[in-house]
Amino acid sequence: MEFGSSTSSQVRRNALVLTLFFENSTRTRTSFEIAARRLGMDTLNLEVNSSSLSKGESLGDTIRTISMMSPDFLVVRHQRAGTPELVAAHTDASVINAGDGAREHPTQALLDALTIRQHFGLNRLADMRGLRIAMVGDVAHSRVARSNLALWSMAGASVTLVGPKAFVPEGFSELGWTVCRDLKSGISGADVVYALRVQTERQSGVMYPSSGEYRQHFGLTLDRLDLHCPGAVVLHPGPVNRGVEMDSQVMADPRCLVERQVANGVWVRMAVLSVLDDARREMRRG
Ligand code: NCD
Repeated sequence: MEFGSSTSSQVRRNALVLTLFFENSTRTRTSFEIAARRLGMDTLNLEVNSSSLSKGESLGDTIRTISMMSPDFLVVRHQRAGTPELVAAHTDASVINAGDGAREHPTQALLDALTIRQHFGLNRLADMRGLRIAMVGDVAHSRVARSNLALWSMAGASVTLVGPKAFVPEGFSELGWTVCRDLKSGISGADVVYALRVQTERQSGVMYPSSGEYRQHFGLTLDRLDLHCPGAVVLHPGPVNRGVEMDSQVMADPRCLVERQVANGVWVRMAVLSVLDDARREMRRG
């Protein structure tokens, strides 16, 4: 066999999913890797901290170099918004955004929507029309919030953003979102309460006095849920700061769907990878 001339009939070639995580992650990276393996794909994590990037190579050069080894998918997480597009400009692989800065986290929004739809028995995304969703917390610094807001507005859900000015700036009401500064009225009558992590690593300067004070005003407790929205389910993208965004009793309550979100993450990423894989095969044939 000549080098470089092997055909698919000679060498069976699974799709290769390369993960590049420039920010810490437990669930998202693992979830993509498990999803890929369940589909029979190969996975490889590029250790970005020990790669040539740490020797001063530009991101574009690194991406062009690894693309010469023909990965099919690059799953990218980066602290800078827009990095997935930058990566895509240097590779023929399909690039999947696993979170860029405070901008987007699309697969998180998809798995959240799946979790909500499953719970309420909604067949289509459009069936979320009118569903009352209260998103509580650090909307300003959250890519999860941005991706979910895009999806929820497409689906026609009725959304209230709940939090102090530092976390839900006035700009959100100017954009047409309903904003509430008070937890009780914000979650009152909600079908879904979506708590966000307080994103200390993305805040410049002290944005909110203390976690104790945050909990006092915006933390989800069983009492608050029972009193204001007893029928609501609770979601959180994780990782949860117990006793800040929500109490341990809320985490343990059957209304809390955090574990279901994690399980659904694998299904959603399998779906994303397999749709893209089909499209890539189609393109190669076409
Ligand atoms: C989120 C992230 O990193 O954007 N976590 C996740 O992917 N499950 C949310 C967060 O860090 O707050």
